[in-house]
Amino acid sequence: MFGKVYSACVQGIEGRLITVEVDIASGLPQFAIVGLPDSAIRESMERVRAAIKNCGFSFPMQRITVNLAPADVRKEGASFDLAIAAAILVTSGQVPAEAIAETLLIGELALDGALRPVAGVLSMVDEARRSALSSVTLPALNAREASLIGGIRVRPLRHLLELTGEEAVPADERAFRAADGDVAAAAASGAGFGEAALDYADVFGQLHAKRALTIAAAGMHNIMLVGPPGTGKTMLVRRLPTILPELDDEEALEVTKLYSVAGKLGGRSGLLRQRPFRAPHHTISAAGLVGGGSVPKPGECSLAHRGVLFLDEMPEFSRQSLEVLRQPLEDRHITIGRARAVFTFPSHVLLAASMNPCPCGYYGAETPERSCSCSPHKVAHYLSRLSGPLLDRIDMQVDVPRIGLDDLAAVSHGHTSLSSAEMRARVEAARAMQRMRYGSGLLPFNGELGGRQLRRHCKLEPGVEKMLQLAFQTLALSVRAHERILKIARTIADLEGSDIIRMPHVAEALQYRSLDRKPLL
Ligand SMILES: Nc1ncnc2c1ncn2[C@@H]1O[C@H](COP(=O)(O)OP(=O)(O)O)[C@@H](O)[C@H]1O
Ligand SMILES: [Mg+2]
Repeated sequence: MFGKVYSACVQGIEGRLITVEVDIASGLPQFAIVGLPDSAIRESMERVRAAIKNCGFSFPMQRITVNLAPADVRKEGASFDLAIAAAILVTSGQVPAEAIAETLLIGELALDGALRPVAGVLSMVDEARRSALSSVTLPALNAREASLIGGIRVRPLRHLLELTGEEAVPADERAFRAADGDVAAAAASGAGFGEAALDYADVFGQLHAKRALTIAAAGMHNIMLVGPPGTGKTMLVRRLPTILPELDDEEALEVTKLYSVAGKLGGRSGLLRQRPFRAPHHTISAAGLVGGGSVPKPGECSLAHRGVLFLDEMPEFSRQSLEVLRQPLEDRHITIGRARAVFTFPSHVLLAASMNPCPCGYYGAETPERSCSCSPHKVAHYLSRLSGPLLDRIDMQVDVPRIGLDDLAAVSHGHTSLSSAEMRARVEAARAMQRMRYGSGLLPFNGELGGRQLRRHCKLEPGVEKMLQLAFQTLALSVRAHERILKIARTIADLEGSDIIRMPHVAEALQYRSLDRKPLL
């Protein structure tokens, strides 16, 4: 007896259709799964066997061979349980074949036959739709996520017994509500997403930093804030998502898929609409940042895709962690090689970092009460932990000094400070300029300009080139620094609605290279 059903797995963030073939032959009782299964699939055999028996079906005492095809796709996880059980039940004549025709089956089985939700549903259902299957049959707790993909029927199951079409278990609405509650709680605690309640109006003074962050958001320029403790660096970066435009439909689907694959979607009912904001702790491993595991899951730099990756106190991160960030920052995706496959996750992020100027934090920011206690050697060692190549990916460096008394006085006199809404309006205007210039093709942002495009799109007003050259000689800047200053000047001109780059734009851009000017780097 032979039977065949469809299931799916995820590679990177794309779903792959997997055919589950079952052969039941006479012979000594045996149960084998072939097709490159990893240990999770061997465990799946035990769950499938128990679930079938505990539902009152009989587990055929024959030679059962299950083949997961194609064999060259690396498979992992428990999401094939339902498909394997269904294929066995249909092939052995215990469930009618119509129950599983033209449907994608995914889900993990508990030993009693209840269905457990799995990760990556969005990508798998999207693939089922592309493959023209008519429906997906999956755990009820994944149903909402699946229904985000239009054009395919979703059939939620709570229990293996429901496969026959009967409502074996009464609809338990509480399960849905509980799952929603978890998500609401996660959202309230700001689990990875920009919190709506934050606003730049909360930050007094620091207009220079706010201006720099507006430029960074407008042109997607990676940015580093440097300053002594307590000046509001963390506070400033946390508000960065509030000035980025909302995700468009395509971006929202892409980001939601990533969170689905990472198993971080919970029972969330819609597409993720807010820009991701990820601020991993400095003890994070390299694998945690870029993704890891035998079948890799996205790491922080992919979970921040289309949003902000914040490295607070950047020199505290291990050298190795910082080193692995170079590739995704350069390529805007991360490639992870494994024995039989290469996995790719998108990683198009705005990197924001913060650091003190030295270990004690007061180098170059001495006050009458507080002076820097670090030896020059200690300062040099601290800064050397940031690798040059990574610093090269950070377009803007901004000093964040202690705020002055006049800023505080302005606040106590009831002056309001620059708000997120005002800043976002500027960002959106500058982004519209970039869309007009680059179209909606591969190059939507000034921060991504390279060599030839740079020269083509960064037209300088006559005379400005000379001033720039002079600045280079006096400040002893590198060629890379030259390119970055042009890109930033391009964004500053866009913020002003100017097609041509003028003197004041370049002059301002030169200010955002504070680390270049310090002799220590
Ligand atoms: N410019 C500012 N406006 C309003 N509050 C500020 C400002 N700078 C610092 N603070 C206050 O100081 C606290 C510490 O700021 P934080 O962002 O953690 O500083 P840093 O990261 O530079 O060490 C903030 O939670 C905030 O209450
Ligand atoms: Mg801080």
